[in-house]
Amino acid sequence: MSRYFIGLTGASGHLYGERLMRALAALGHDLDLALTPAGAKVLRHELGVDAGPEGAELEASLPRWLGEDTARRVRVFKSDEIEAPASSGTAGIAAVILCPCSMGTLARVSAGFSSNLVERAADVAIKERRPLLLVVRETPLSEIHLENLLRMARLGAQVLPAMPGFYQRPENLAELVDQLVGKILDGLGLEHELGKRWSGELAGDPGLEGCS
Ligand SMILES: Cc1cc2nc3c(=O)[nH]c(=O)nc-3n(C[C@H](O)[C@H](O)[C@H](O)COP(=O)(O)O)c2cc1C
Repeated sequence: MSRYFIGLTGASGHLYGERLMRALAALGHDLDLALTPAGAKVLRHELGVDAGPEGAELEASLPRWLGEDTARRVRVFKSDEIEAPASSGTAGIAAVILCPCSMGTLARVSAGFSSNLVERAADVAIKERRPLLLVVRETPLSEIHLENLLRMARLGAQVLPAMPGFYQRPENLAELVDQLVGKILDGLGLEHELGKRWSGELAGDPGLEGCS
């Protein structure tokens, strides 16, 4: 079993982060978690989770938010806690996942700023050549965003835009979210049962039942 670092930032898409943490914990993995101040605002807005001013009370809100079983596997750090284990390549963090990842955090990571724990954890993953997954979200994307994304891809990060596909014909929001979270787990090389795998069969083709 591994320990993963999850960074929640001020982009939209905290439902993806929530589902990812639940899924990783259910697979028996441990998590280090940090939330940026902007992330705390968007988390409260999107999921109604009150992590306190600048996310200072995230730890206390965790069991209610994610349930006891998941919360037990999560170590919470403040975003200015740059002394946290994830700040060092020696900590044994298997991969860093920023989910959701704002364009601001993307820009600072791509420039090596490391101005908070989330950015530093990503910086460590780059320098140690460990997996870094960026679940970015913005639309439309400017040239600045695209250049930063290209830079990160060239550095070896996996860019997984929070850009849901509809060809698997999701029936509800949970299925849509699970499809992307399944791609994140694929990116980590983990076995899972989230989302549907493409069967090669188009719905409506004669004799075919559609995607399964
Ligand atoms: C409700 C809400 C939704 C937002 N959604 C996005 C988004 O999808 N992508 C993005 O890059 N920024 C988004 N922002 C803006 C970021 O939160 C802002 O740029 C912030 O400074 C990012 O800080 P951080 O990278 O330290 O978390 C949103 C802000 C709010 C209030």
